[in-house]
Amino acid sequence: MNILVVGGGGREHAICMSVSKSKKADKIYCAPGNAGIASVAECVPIGAMEFDKLVDFAKNNSIDFCIVGMDDPLVGGLVDLMEEAGIRTFGPKKNAAILEGSKAFAKDLMKKYNIPTAAYENFDSYDEAIEYIKKSKFPIVLKADGLALGKGVLICNTVDEAIEGAREIMLDKKFGESGNRMVVEEFMTGREVSVLSFVDGKTIRIMTSAQDHKRAGDGDTGLNTGGMGTFSPSPFYTDEVDDYCKKYIYQATVDAMRSENREFKGIIFFGLMITENGPRVLEYNARFGDPEAQVVLPRMKNDILEVMEACVDGKLDDITLEFEDNAAVCVVLASDGYPVAYEKGKIIKGFEAFDNKSDYFCFHAGTKFDDDGNIVTNGGRVLGITAKGDTLKEARTNAYRATEWIDFDNKYMRHDIGKAIDEA
Ligand SMILES: Nc1ncnc2c1ncn2[C@@H]1O[C@H](COP(=O)(O)OP(=O)(O)O)[C@@H](O)[C@H]1O
Ligand SMILES: [Mg+2]
Repeated sequence: MNILVVGGGGREHAICMSVSKSKKADKIYCAPGNAGIASVAECVPIGAMEFDKLVDFAKNNSIDFCIVGMDDPLVGGLVDLMEEAGIRTFGPKKNAAILEGSKAFAKDLMKKYNIPTAAYENFDSYDEAIEYIKKSKFPIVLKADGLALGKGVLICNTVDEAIEGAREIMLDKKFGESGNRMVVEEFMTGREVSVLSFVDGKTIRIMTSAQDHKRAGDGDTGLNTGGMGTFSPSPFYTDEVDDYCKKYIYQATVDAMRSENREFKGIIFFGLMITENGPRVLEYNARFGDPEAQVVLPRMKNDILEVMEACVDGKLDDITLEFEDNAAVCVVLASDGYPVAYEKGKIIKGFEAFDNKSDYFCFHAGTKFDDDGNIVTNGGRVLGITAKGDTLKEARTNAYRATEWIDFDNKYMRHDIGKAIDEA
């Protein structure tokens, strides 16, 4: 099959690498891709939101199967357009991607179908939100309804902070149209775990668990980022937690979407918080996490295209997912100053150290070729250095060792990715 992957970050590099190992893959394209993806796929200079161009490209290049990796094109309806053009495509249609695209929708769905989540109210009106906030217990959580690059959630400790936050979201429109509605939610405490799954509309297959690190600085300080590192599996995802989620969360979510005539096919990412009262859903995403994909996919034994085709065809029932009995850690190498301001165009050296090492991966996020053919930094998150190990601790040691193989000006990373493992 000829494959088109849509996206250009570390997640899409991990997807392209898995696809390149499939016996079903012939030609692999990635739009727009990046300098690392270019080693496993042909990069096509079309942006992930240029829907007409992507559909034309797929038709003109005999694409048999398209994989949409990113949230924006999914929520915008790229899967619908591809399928209308006769291209089989992996990912939820627009009416199902709303599970990620609207937090208010997701909360109402969970309430209606008794899926455990934090208590909340949705607001279209700033004045009504303020009235509610004034009567609330603190801390309280404010969430812009729509996509906000992982920045639309504010945890507020006082009434004044919450009023200021509501103003930013709903009046100043700091996150654009995403702030037309706002969720006001009860604050919960507990460990966070991410669980990825494949879904074919009715059947769900759970992948291995993972945990990410969102804040920029060591010790979970500093601003929120797209993610500074991950580990998999999570030692906090116990059998007891798994049983609970299987009983009350995973299949219940898939069934709820079907009942609403929003059949979900693709990846559901469950953002869970393990509270004193049991696991609660923090949020859903409609695609692989980034950098969760970079620790989960290298451990998956299945042929990824077989699994993805089964999702599209409604035949996931026939598939058993298998993961290696080991662990993986990903440490993100970023540009110093991320997520605020940072320089680009720095030459990156050391890639050859990863050659012929099957347990080490250098996933590219923000990289490109300069005019002289050098690979240079081209974003805040530059590379995701992943290593496997027999245990989480070994994987962590290996990943940090491999971060030293790479060199570029302004290289920045967290030094405590996977530190939580020591508390398990
Ligand atoms: N109800 C809540 N209680 C405590 N922390 C929360 C709550 N909701 C979200 N958070 C924190 O905010 C982060 C981001 O929220 P999330 O709903 O995952 O949105 P997004 O990933 O789109 O920014 C979570 O990973 C969690 O750390
Ligand atoms: Mg999240």
